[in-house]
Amino acid sequence: MKICVLPGDGIGTEITAQAVRVLQALELKFEMEEAPIGGAGYRALGHPLPESTLALAKASDAILFGAVGDFSLDHLPRELRPEQAILGLRKALNLFANFRPAIVYPELVQASTLKAEVVAGLDILIIRELTGDIYFGQPRGIRRLDNGEREGFDTMRYAESEIRRVAHVGFQAARKRSGRLCSVDKANVLESSQVWREVAIRVGKDYPTVKLSHMYVDNAAMQLLKNPRQFDVIVTGNMFGDILSDEASMLTGSIGMLPSASLNDRKFGLYEPIHGSAPDIAGKDIANPLATILSAAMMLRYSFDRAEDAVRIETAVKKVLALGIRTGDIYEPGMTKVGTAGMGDAVLAAL
Ligand code: IPM
Ligand code: MG
Repeated sequence: MKICVLPGDGIGTEITAQAVRVLQALELKFEMEEAPIGGAGYRALGHPLPESTLALAKASDAILFGAVGDFSLDHLPRELRPEQAILGLRKALNLFANFRPAIVYPELVQASTLKAEVVAGLDILIIRELTGDIYFGQPRGIRRLDNGEREGFDTMRYAESEIRRVAHVGFQAARKRSGRLCSVDKANVLESSQVWREVAIRVGKDYPTVKLSHMYVDNAAMQLLKNPRQFDVIVTGNMFGDILSDEASMLTGSIGMLPSASLNDRKFGLYEPIHGSAPDIAGKDIANPLATILSAAMMLRYSFDRAEDAVRIETAVKKVLALGIRTGDIYEPGMTKVGTAGMGDAVLAAL
């Protein structure tokens, strides 16, 4: 079980260090190797996704990823910006299926900005397509118009095969859960969404036990706040999934709690918290490492078929929350406030 550890920028280093400690504590004979990526990759080797880092990723069985993004490199041309590292990895490794679960832990129900009675017990899974859509569609660019002004343009596009494979992932996940799948699109306006919806319906014929519904993305954004528990599994495109998953994270109280898995068709996966590099709090030992620790649990479940070990980590996290141990983002008066490493200590103790 060879794990490629890519801490990246900002808080990435601190949070992956805690997840690595938790994995090591399981004593499962992991082989772990670290490499620079994002802004750190650019500084060390002149590129956000250095060739040696990509080679290491390809030679491993799974990737534990921190975060990339560094304001001080925002002046670089787009292909050298830190964000290109994660986009490049997703594309190069064909990680088209992104699982983003949003769970409200009973202990954190007060941490949500929504009323407890709206979010209590929430357990939804957003499956976001990750290698297509307007993120990668060509043509794109910035061009000069006849009147002299500049115009930026991107292309939103989805081929049937791209939709089909992620739709299958959505239906299979729904079949294992409540049997309900909501496909989110903008078929009232966009051609790419019209094809998306048609393919989703066609794939649905293979899953007679799953009830498929459709929702426009604007309505989905509203319904997530109005009545989030109506959802179980959501399947959607890259751009809509990016936005809805950040929104869903706030139902749970903190974006610092949400793990993710990005998988190809052979169980190879990249595991990362859904939050970013948070440069404003980097190096201060205050970031919440739980999203990354929970991402390590997803790695055990999806890439290594070790569901029992995943449950061990998840149970340890729940125990820590039940003990009232909190990082600043989920802190409430009366609880015990800890830093990044302190939270790692607490999870290890609970393990
Ligand atoms: C995410 C992030 C990335 C994305 C950025 C860092 C490129 O927001 O994983 O949700 O837009 O996909
Ligand atoms: Mg995002």
